[in-house]
Amino acid sequence: MPGISRWCCPNFRLFLWDSRRKLLCKRAAPEWGQFCMYYLGFFLILMSLTAFMCIIIIHYVQRYQTTFFDVNHLGGTPSVSMRPVATKQLIIYRLQDVQMAPSSYINDFKNLLQAYQNQDNKTHQECTSTCLNSAKPCKFNISSLGPCGKEPYGYDTESPCVLIKLNKHFGWFPCLPPNDPSRQSQQSYIEVECKGHQPADREHYSELHLYPQNGFPTSFFPYSAQKHYLAPLVAVKIENPLSGILVTIECTSRYEGKAVSSLIFQVIVVGR
Ligand SMILES: *[C@@H]1O[C@H](CO)[C@@H](O)[C@H](O)[C@H]1NC(C)=O
Ligand SMILES: *[C@@H]1O[C@H](CO)[C@@H](O)[C@H](O)[C@H]1NC(C)=O
Repeated sequence: MPGISRWCCPNFRLFLWDSRRKLLCKRAAPEWGQFCMYYLGFFLILMSLTAFMCIIIIHYVQRYQTTFFDVNHLGGTPSVSMRPVATKQLIIYRLQDVQMAPSSYINDFKNLLQAYQNQDNKTHQECTSTCLNSAKPCKFNISSLGPCGKEPYGYDTESPCVLIKLNKHFGWFPCLPPNDPSRQSQQSYIEVECKGHQPADREHYSELHLYPQNGFPTSFFPYSAQKHYLAPLVAVKIENPLSGILVTIECTSRYEGKAVSSLIFQVIVVGR
């Protein structure tokens, strides 16, 4: 390029291409060869390490899905949480005292149930059989919560409601084995049982009502991070606890006779 060499930066030109010593960027052809081979090798090793890691991860994720998520395995079971949110799980209110009106309890119910009220046919589907494993989550029937699905959720009476929510637990699969098709088409349930924690507690209320009685339908599982997924709920209505007495209630959920999780909460209602 004689046209350029006449007017532009001779040092830089010499750096780019030294025609006398045949150096490109100060390196000779064999040096460039070594340089390329070195980086080719370096990236090949890096890529094969990455590929090796990917293979290991894919292998383990596959095993994880078939065994670790099994209900019988140590993978764990979903926890439950309760509404209203109460410090030390103690629900306390006074019936006639307007100042102590349990508006925060009522708001907790409202906030949780709001999402359930917005379910429609586009986002949710009616589920009748067990473990659907589909992309569209199941519709939870709010009417099945009975009086506990309606404001003020029993907090205007001596008989308050407590909601139990089976928390989202990725991949948990409480389902019958696929080799039993007759039972697969039926709805099965994670049963819930509530009772006074100690025998004395059982004498301090008239009844505990569960809505819905069957418990949590298994059609809501497995949870696989579906969009708009709503965890199933069960409500407990504590009927007429003795005024001013601390009542401790324990609710246990079971699937096929095995405990899934349990929850203890306490209630004091100061009556009229
Ligand atoms: C949603 O689907 C159910 C059952 O398929 C049907 O009974 C109901 O009318 C539908 N609701 C709306 C709003 O389309
Ligand atoms: C919802 O629950 C109520 C009360 O248990 C029941 O009467 C109704 O049939 C249920 N609706 C559906 C769609 O399952």
